[in-house]
Amino acid sequence: HFTKVGRVPGDPILGLMDAYRADPNPAKIDLGVGVYKDARGLTPIPYAVKLAEQHLVDSETTKTYIGGHGDAAFGQLMLNLVLGAGNPLITAGRTGATQTPGGTGALRLAAEFIAANMPGRGVWLSDPTWPIHETIFAGAGIKVAHYPYVDAANRLDVEAMLAALERVPTGDVVLLHACCHNPTGFDLGQDDWQRVLDVVRARELLPLIDFAYQGFGDGLEQDAWSVRLFAEALPELLITSSCSKNFGLYRERTGALIVCAADADKLTDVRSQLAFLARNLWSTPPAHGAAVVATILGDAALKAQWVEELNAMRQRVASLRSGLVEALQPFGLAERFAHIGVQRGMFSYTGLSPEQVARLRAEFSVYMVSTGRANVAGLDASRIGDLAAAIAKVC
Ligand code: LMR
Repeated sequence: HFTKVGRVPGDPILGLMDAYRADPNPAKIDLGVGVYKDARGLTPIPYAVKLAEQHLVDSETTKTYIGGHGDAAFGQLMLNLVLGAGNPLITAGRTGATQTPGGTGALRLAAEFIAANMPGRGVWLSDPTWPIHETIFAGAGIKVAHYPYVDAANRLDVEAMLAALERVPTGDVVLLHACCHNPTGFDLGQDDWQRVLDVVRARELLPLIDFAYQGFGDGLEQDAWSVRLFAEALPELLITSSCSKNFGLYRERTGALIVCAADADKLTDVRSQLAFLARNLWSTPPAHGAAVVATILGDAALKAQWVEELNAMRQRVASLRSGLVEALQPFGLAERFAHIGVQRGMFSYTGLSPEQVARLRAEFSVYMVSTGRANVAGLDASRIGDLAAAIAKVC
């Protein structure tokens, strides 16, 4: 039965976790997978999450299935978090959230929805994008194409992006990163977003906004700006939201697919399709992470605690960015790597070549994705000088 089964290469991102763990060098530096680490090099469980979990241990009465759309309270609170409490779409019943196993689950569900209900539509991804975007949509049988995002000199290229979007066939799906673009860290400015919106509207494209890092860019509300702009301006929208990073819930697989439809009736049609597809993918979503999020967002004190912890994570990443640029100064490299301070979120497209990345790993046990993507949020502040010296050596 298995004789014809070949081997595929390991995941380009998760594989780095294993390689890093296996490296005996005590001076190793992990800038691979996108997880936040604190000053001790640990990926902490936020205190707000611990408190919510304690509350759940004491109060949870059953482990019976939650419905196909997941925890209704979680869904409602996620709509408030993403679209803003009191958003007219919420009051008009034009938007709903389906709980999914992480942001990846939301993307997979969106892909299945597009494939089943909008056959023939292509999906347009930024070049570059998160590699799993490529395989999720291709895996659902959707034609994947790309629009440019960064130029050869590693700068955000909005003009090239817009020019490409203007040629996208009417009705196709365009995937946009709400903030903290993965892998580059380059985000669109508000004027850029407005121009993208104009093209999307003129060409009647369906935006799918991937929102995996709310709170890691400029703040919880600030990061939602683009999502809310599109939700207000367009009749239809898909949003994939993740609680992995901002709630530190990575392994609990907590996320949502948010749909905005032209009216409440159409929303009900769409949600019936999502429930059907989800049933065939994972039946019902894992409950724990969503219960934690609902507990936090539903309690003013816990929410304030969480926001404070999230703000601290964001500020730490920002200081690591500026710290790294500063540490590159003595090597005459501050200007060359100034973009690290401008980029947002966990990731930086450093501009280092695959050969330089390979040397960093072989000679200094510095781990990052071969494309030159570094997870700045994985950096230990006490090692910034070592990292800068290593980068200088390979440049
Ligand atoms: C990353 O890109 O490193 C994160 O989004 C984690 C993942 O699942 O790949």
